[in-house]
Amino acid sequence: MQSEINPWSSTPNLDMEKLYREFGIEPIEDIVKGIEDAPTFLRRNIVSGNRDYSLIADAIAAKKKFYVMTGFMPSGYPHLGHLMVMKEVVWHTKRGGTGFISIADREAHAVRGLSREKCKFFGEKYLSWLYALGYKGERYYQSENDRLKDLAFESAIRINFSQLTAIYGFTPETSLAHAMSVATQVADILYPQLKYGPAPTVVPVGIDQDPHIRLTRDVANSLRMFTILKTDDGVSIRSKNAPAQAMDMVEKEFGKNGCKRFEGHIDVRGVDIAYADEIVRKIEVECGGYGFYLPSSTYHTFLQGLTGGKMSSSVPESLFRFDEPEKDIKKKIMGALTGGRMTLEEQKKLGGEPEKCSIYLLNVFHMQEDDEELKEMCRACKAGELLCGTCKKETFERIKEFTKDFNEKLDEVSHMAE
Ligand code: TRP
Ligand code: SF4
Repeated sequence: MQSEINPWSSTPNLDMEKLYREFGIEPIEDIVKGIEDAPTFLRRNIVSGNRDYSLIADAIAAKKKFYVMTGFMPSGYPHLGHLMVMKEVVWHTKRGGTGFISIADREAHAVRGLSREKCKFFGEKYLSWLYALGYKGERYYQSENDRLKDLAFESAIRINFSQLTAIYGFTPETSLAHAMSVATQVADILYPQLKYGPAPTVVPVGIDQDPHIRLTRDVANSLRMFTILKTDDGVSIRSKNAPAQAMDMVEKEFGKNGCKRFEGHIDVRGVDIAYADEIVRKIEVECGGYGFYLPSSTYHTFLQGLTGGKMSSSVPESLFRFDEPEKDIKKKIMGALTGGRMTLEEQKKLGGEPEKCSIYLLNVFHMQEDDEELKEMCRACKAGELLCGTCKKETFERIKEFTKDFNEKLDEVSHMAE
C-alpha cells in the first residue's frame, strides 16, 4: 500500500515523468512560456512539474498578492542539493511574493531525534544561506510558533490514520509525534493564509515532499465552509459545513443577482465564478473560517551527485560544501563521474554524453548562468571537441568564483540568522 515516494527515505533514480503521471502533477513548460524574464531554473526545465502553478504565474503577472513558503529540516548542514529550492523561494519574493520559511525542528526532533540545540545550530545555517541568496521575508521555528501549533491541531482534526497509512505507509508502530510533525507541516503550508488572509501560495519542493502537498490540499479543502460549482448560467455555492449566519450573508450578498436559496446551497445566475469565489472567501473569513486556497507547488529534478548516484551528505564525495578547503573541492570535481568515454580516442570520435554527466548538470543547475555558453559547452562536448579534463578545470574555476562570493555574503548576513 505504501506509495513509491516517501519523504523520510532516500529515493534514488526516480523516473520523474512516471511519478508525475501517477500522482497528477502537471508539466510546467506551458505556464513558463507566459512568464516574463523567467529565471534559469524555469527556462531550463529544472523545475519541471507543478500543481496549480498558473495561479501563481497569474498573480505575478497581475501584481496580485501571493505567498511563497517552504521548510527545511535542520538535521544537518545545508548542501548543494538544497540550493535549488532556496533560489526558487528568493526569486518568488523578488517577483512580489511574501516569503515564509519554516525551520522544521519539530520534525527533526520527532523523526531524527535531534536536540533543540542542534536544531538551532543547523537552522541558523539554512537561514544564513537564504539571506546570502537575498531572501527577505518571515521565518520561524515550528516549536516556537503557537499559532502554527494551533493550526496544526485544527488540521489534525481533518486527518485520520487510514490517510496516514495510505499516504506515508505509517504502521501501528509509527510514533504519534511523527504523525504530529505531519500535521505541523500541513499547518506550515497553510500558515501564510492564516496570518495574512487567503491568497495563492506556492510551495517549492523536491518530489519527495509531494505526499505532504497532497495531504495539505485535502485538509485545506476540508477546512472550507463552501465549495463553488459552475452551472450553465452562473454558480452554485454549496455549503460543506457553513453556519447559518454564513449562508445568510451569502444570500444577502447575491440577493441583487436574484439568487435562489435551497437547503444546502445557493444558486446565483449571471455571475462569474472568480468573482463569486472571492466574495465567498471573504464571508467565510468574516464568519471565523479560513477561506484557504489549495496550495500550489513546484517540483524540481534532483541534482545528481558527483559520484553519479544520489547527492547526499552521507556520501561525502557526492557533493562539496562551500566551506571546504579549495583543494578538496578541486579533488572532488576532478574525480567526478562524467559522460566522457573510456579513452581519449573514443571521446574525440564519439563525443561525450552531457545529459549523463554530473559536471554538465552542475553547470545547468548552478554554475553557468549564461544560456549561450551552456549551449556551447553541450555542443562542444557532443562533438568531441571539449575533453573532460579541460571541462572540469573550467567548471572548477566557476565554482571557485561562486564559492568565494557566496562565503563573503554568508559572512555579511550571518547575524541575521541568529
Ligand atoms: N519536511 C521537509 C523536509 O524534510 C521540511 C518542511 C517542513 C517543509 N515544513 C515544510 C517543506 C513546509 C515544505 C513546506 O525537508
Ligand atoms: Fe561532461 Fe564536460 Fe566531459 Fe562533456 S566534456 S562529458 S560535459 S565533463
